[in-house]
Amino acid sequence: MGKDVIIACDFDSAEQTLSFLDQFTDRKPYVKIGMELFYAEGPQIVRDLKERGHRIFLDLKLHDIPNTVKKAMSVLSRLDVDMCNLHAAGTKAMMEAALEGLTRPDGSRPLLIAVTQLTSTSEERMREDLLIRAPLAEVVSHYAQNAREAGLDGVVCSPLEAQTVHQVCGESFLTVTPGVRFADDAAADQVRIATPARAKLLGSDYIVVGRSITAAADPVAAYRRCLEEFI
Ligand code: C5P
Repeated sequence: MGKDVIIACDFDSAEQTLSFLDQFTDRKPYVKIGMELFYAEGPQIVRDLKERGHRIFLDLKLHDIPNTVKKAMSVLSRLDVDMCNLHAAGTKAMMEAALEGLTRPDGSRPLLIAVTQLTSTSEERMREDLLIRAPLAEVVSHYAQNAREAGLDGVVCSPLEAQTVHQVCGESFLTVTPGVRFADDAAADQVRIATPARAKLLGSDYIVVGRSITAAADPVAAYRRCLEEFI
C-alpha cells in the first residue's frame, strides 16, 4: 500500500471544490470528502469526483447503534469510495456490523478505518470532558486493537501515535493521520500535530491535510511540499 497525501476538501459547495481541484493539473490528488461537503452536496459530489479520477476517502465518522451503522454502510458501499470511516468509540460490535454492511455481495468493499481520538482532543479534555482516565496513547492503542479485532483495515490517529499503533497492530494496519501542519503554520483547533516530514519518520501511511493546503496562498505548491516532505 503506497503512502499518499490526502487533501481534506472542507468546502461547502461542489463549485468551490471543483474549481479548487482544477488547479491540480500534474497529479490528481487523493481527496477527502467530509461532513461539510457531503451534507451540502449529497452523494453526487462523490460520483463527480470519482468520475474525474480522484481516489476518495469519505470521512463521515459514523457512530450509532450497530444495526443503524450496518445499514448506513450498506448504502455507502454503493458509492464506490476507496476508504470510509466510523468512530471506534461505537464499540467492536458496531465496527463488526459496519464491516458486514459495507461488504458488497461480491465480497469487495472500500477500506474501513476507525477514528481513535480526534486530533483536536487533548489528554486533559479527554480526562475532564469524557471522563477517560487512561493516558491518551493507551486509549488510542486500545481503540486500534479493538478495530483490528473487529476486522478493520486501520485507524485515524495523530502522526504522533502512528508508531505505537503499528507496534501494537502490525505494520500493515493502516494509520491515516490528520493533525498535519508545516513548521511555519498555525495549529488552529488541532492539538496533536506534526509536520509531514515528522509524520513520515513516525510511519504514517497517509497524511490528511486540510487548511495547510486549502488555505495556502499557493495550494498546488503546498501540496507539492507535502509530497516532498512525506513521500
Ligand atoms: O484543516 P485540517 O488539516 O486541520 O483538516 C483536518 C481534516 O481531518 C478535517 O477535515 C477533519 O475533519 C479531519 N479529521 C481530523 N481528526 C480526526 C479525523 C478527521 O482532523 N481524528
